[in-house]
Amino acid sequence: MAYSPSETNELIRSRRSIYPKNYTGEPIPRSTIQDLLENANWAPTHRMTEPWRFKVVSGKARTRLGELLGNYYAANTPKEKYTDAKYLKTKNKPAQSEYVIAICMQRDPKKSVPEFEEIAATACAVQNMLLTAWGYGLGAYWSTPSVINSPDLSTFLSLGKGERCLGFMYIGNHNLPTFPGKRSPVEEKVVWLD
Ligand SMILES: Cc1cc2nc3c(=O)[nH]c(=O)nc-3n(C[C@H](O)[C@H](O)[C@H](O)COP(=O)(O)O)c2cc1C
Repeated sequence: MAYSPSETNELIRSRRSIYPKNYTGEPIPRSTIQDLLENANWAPTHRMTEPWRFKVVSGKARTRLGELLGNYYAANTPKEKYTDAKYLKTKNKPAQSEYVIAICMQRDPKKSVPEFEEIAATACAVQNMLLTAWGYGLGAYWSTPSVINSPDLSTFLSLGKGERCLGFMYIGNHNLPTFPGKRSPVEEKVVWLD
């Protein structure tokens, strides 16, 4: 099966991280989020451990998550660095987004592959979601605040044994014009061994 290389290239290269401050608040049907999740589920996975797990935070749960993030910032930021503006920004991010998907990884109890492979497989699943979101014209980005290691977040997400949060994917509609990304040339990162 072949897909148009130009469309594939365009989708991958034009994708940009779009942040909650740019989200419009326009609703997104659950069926769209279901498509993101379905595509996540088709990520490559060594020994079929399928380690990706997702907690979809929407509706009023976004406010509860925002409270948790704000409280964490207030409790864990040194006084000299703390600002009310950052506190409010942190707290409001979930409510500015239509959905926040907590990106989680379930370690294989048999440890049949090294942990980095399960983190890598989960990251592949996230890229599937980011690209799908971009294809739908949605804004999204992957965030990794330090709160992801907090016991309060574990409780909020009901993380099980061996399950770990690797970040949040924020999702919302946006109406930004397309803008170029920044990457140094791939040639600087590649060695061909002929
Ligand atoms: C694993 C991972 C974690 C990230 N964490 C953050 C983050 O905590 N805060 C943030 O602003 N962006 C975060 N990003 C998004 C990057 O900032 C973004 O991908 C980068 O600036 C390149 O922009 P682009 O995605 O538009 O090409 C993360 C990306 C990845 C892959």
